[in-house]
Amino acid sequence: MNVSTHLLRCTGCGQRINPGEAQSNFRCRVCSDLFEVEYPWSEGAEGPAQEPYSASRPVPRNRPNPGALKYLWQERRTSTLSIDQSGVWRFRDLLPIVTEDRVVTLREGNTPLYEMPRAAESLGMNWLLAKHQGMNPTGSFKDTGMTAALSVAVAAGFEWVACASTGNTSAAMAAYAARAGLRSLVLIPEGKIAWGKLSQAMDYGSTTVQLRTDFDGCVRVLAKIVERAPVYLLNSVNPYRLEGQKTPAFEMLEQLEWQVPHHLIVPGGNLANVSALGKGFAEMKQLGFIRRVPKMSVIQAEGANPLYRWLQNGGHGQLEPVVADTRASAIRIGNPASWKKAARVIASTGGWCEQVNEREIALSKAEIGAEGIGCEPASAVTLAGLKKLAADGRVGREETAVLLLTGHTLKDFEYTIQYHRGELLTEAEMAGASKAELARHAALRCEPLVLDAKADAVLSVLDKMTARPVQTA
Ligand code: F0G
Repeated sequence: MNVSTHLLRCTGCGQRINPGEAQSNFRCRVCSDLFEVEYPWSEGAEGPAQEPYSASRPVPRNRPNPGALKYLWQERRTSTLSIDQSGVWRFRDLLPIVTEDRVVTLREGNTPLYEMPRAAESLGMNWLLAKHQGMNPTGSFKDTGMTAALSVAVAAGFEWVACASTGNTSAAMAAYAARAGLRSLVLIPEGKIAWGKLSQAMDYGSTTVQLRTDFDGCVRVLAKIVERAPVYLLNSVNPYRLEGQKTPAFEMLEQLEWQVPHHLIVPGGNLANVSALGKGFAEMKQLGFIRRVPKMSVIQAEGANPLYRWLQNGGHGQLEPVVADTRASAIRIGNPASWKKAARVIASTGGWCEQVNEREIALSKAEIGAEGIGCEPASAVTLAGLKKLAADGRVGREETAVLLLTGHTLKDFEYTIQYHRGELLTEAEMAGASKAELARHAALRCEPLVLDAKADAVLSVLDKMTARPVQTA
């Protein structure tokens, strides 16, 4: 760990500690809230004083120079060094948490920003984009945070790392731990994560334990384990995860030639990702890379909507956990750890929190697929939520919105197959659909056909689907 470069600041009581003083559960000793990484140049950081940087003696701010960094980050794209090829560590000047020799990378990041012309058209918007974090090495946005926090685990000399997960964190942790030669423990809710993700943890050699509980129950068990054994916690309460997960904000701005989108729409589960991206954009503004930040909105599934409920009830007091239930298993979380950080990001950027139902999620996922992009169900809440934000003018036609797609479509292929076979949604769920919505579902559904092995049989299908006959003979 590069301790002279940063402190951990409690986001609840403001207390600053040196990195080595963090408890194994990454909670503040004084108020139990979560920490964030603070650099000498961070907003509100105390300075200047002498080296080494510590809670009692902060170093001079050394404010990074945006012009120089933009040039350097572009230059690194042509380098053959792994640390430069990583879309996280390319920005290492703004996340100096480990020395370069400790970095564990799979060349994460550098994910595409796709245009979504058909979805934009049906929403009546001029320009809609999707930043596809599912195009990371293990197929989800978790890789950007895992490369950061796992590198810190290596630097701190841990042998074991662990996480509780709805699937993607465990896949990412297992892969990075394998690369680093560390041992990893995965706790997942039995029967409640997609098989693709479970198979990854096994493939990467993790000790994979299915607990008879939900995600929130896995978190509780893991808290006891890290208290009793020298195991490094890699859930998103670990502030270093968020340092990696803030970098897609930098990358997105670079891809947009530093034009700030009006809106960023993010799925909400444990609520760390929106917190991380909020930190990333805030740092860009504070350092002078950009003049404003996008409005950041969080979309939750109706069956896993504790933040939505809290805000609907006025946003006072403590968040009331819910018993979570949604087919978007990645965000089946009832007691999100980073809810306070997320609420602050929504409030400070002027965004919203929306909820979407299972039918809306399934339709939006099929629409994203039909653009040739595809994503896992939890990512599709972004488009479903944007429809609501656009319908009542919270997102304007002339404005630019970016959907954050968090996971690859192959992560949960069973969901996709069930949807296209018409086996996913129940009659009761479909009963609430409008005629237009039913027609949309029918148009998107691509059921696989079983035919005799004859060209005629296949061509007759094409005939039925095309206005003009395909057969020429
Ligand atoms: N999308 C996907 C595909 C996810 O896997 C997750 C979270 C989220 C969205 C929500 O992000 O929790 O930062 O608000 N998955 C975690 C996991 C919890 O264990 O893989 P968040």
